[in-house]
Amino acid sequence: MQKSTFMQGGSAFKLGLFGYLHDGGVTITKAPERWTARWDDIVAMARYADEAGLDFLLPYARWKGMPGEIPQRTHSFETLTHAAALAGHTKRIGLFSTVHTPIIHPGVAAKMMTTIDHASHGRAGLNIVCGWNQDDFDMFGIEQLPHDERYQHGREWFDIWSRLAAGAEAPFDYHGTHFPKIERASAMPESVQRPWPLVISAAYSPAGRKFAIDTSDYLLTVMEDVEAGRTELATLAAQAEATGRSEPIRPIAVSYVVCRDTREEAEAFHRYYAEDNADNIGVDYWLAGRQTKAMLPEALYKLRSRIAGGNTNFPLIGTPQDIADQLIALHDAGFAGAGIGFFNYLADLPVFVEKVVPILAKAGLRNAA
Ligand SMILES: Cc1cc2nc3c(=O)[nH]c(=O)nc-3n(C[C@H](O)[C@H](O)[C@H](O)COP(=O)(O)O)c2cc1C
Repeated sequence: MQKSTFMQGGSAFKLGLFGYLHDGGVTITKAPERWTARWDDIVAMARYADEAGLDFLLPYARWKGMPGEIPQRTHSFETLTHAAALAGHTKRIGLFSTVHTPIIHPGVAAKMMTTIDHASHGRAGLNIVCGWNQDDFDMFGIEQLPHDERYQHGREWFDIWSRLAAGAEAPFDYHGTHFPKIERASAMPESVQRPWPLVISAAYSPAGRKFAIDTSDYLLTVMEDVEAGRTELATLAAQAEATGRSEPIRPIAVSYVVCRDTREEAEAFHRYYAEDNADNIGVDYWLAGRQTKAMLPEALYKLRSRIAGGNTNFPLIGTPQDIADQLIALHDAGFAGAGIGFFNYLADLPVFVEKVVPILAKAGLRNAA
């Protein structure tokens, strides 16, 4: 279904910031200059990204920290209220909320997101997450469902959420397996975006990908390299077509950027924070598989520096030209855009905007801000 959303039109290749709402961002490092996710820095980052014409802001949802040699992900904010607050600080950029379906009721999420959509004049996005880290869920007393069942629960959650976000003046009942007794549900006003706010999700397993194809406009995708990404996209497109989806699900490459004037400098900085100062307890915890093993291509579990450097996301390390070339390669492989993490968003984003984005603009991937 064609939606009217903030991601429509504009630049051919979408760019957004990813993973900035907790300390460390996408890294698992001890380097002291790492991102600390203080609120005023997040606002300054969001304003800069907005004025530079970036397309979206997309946080991870974390409720508590994880073990490390130093505290990791311990200082984190909540994603729905973050989007509501940033709506008042920005004018054009899309504002995703990452929502855990087992924790937030779909009726609450629909009402909150409709509010954000009105406050931002149509810039609310939903990143729908059906389950991940039991450690996080333990603090709510929630036991995760078996893997594939999480997506059945998520599917019912999405049906209720989308009906309410679309505006339901006439009350309806919903009797599902996981939501057996929703009575006289209604919600007005409807969201600004039609029929409901933009939806994105991230999954690698067959059940997760099927869920994404059924519910989402975009899919966050982590791949080993561009070639592997190209192959994955072909599989995904075939899966989507087989379901009779009227338009393709658009993949967003999840990546991280280390940009310096020379390749040697960029690689040296990556070595500094992702190898010499890797938080090895944090990386070990990550690898111990609290998250599902099916979450990513198997090869990525061997790449410790990529885990410490950018949470396994796709590394873009080098000169502005190197980084632009890789983003152009992702575009040519079929990616609709990239979600980018930085070692330190406030320090590193201006370099990206001033040096990399103009090369992308020349190549036709970006419009002027
Ligand atoms: C790029 C990316 C971002 C994710 N962001 C979050 C997040 O913010 N919070 C969360 O709980 N899970 C997050 N996840 C976990 C996914 O939602 C999903 O639970 C995980 O990929 C396992 O799905 P699968 O077993 O179906 O492949 C993320 C996954 C990926 C690949």
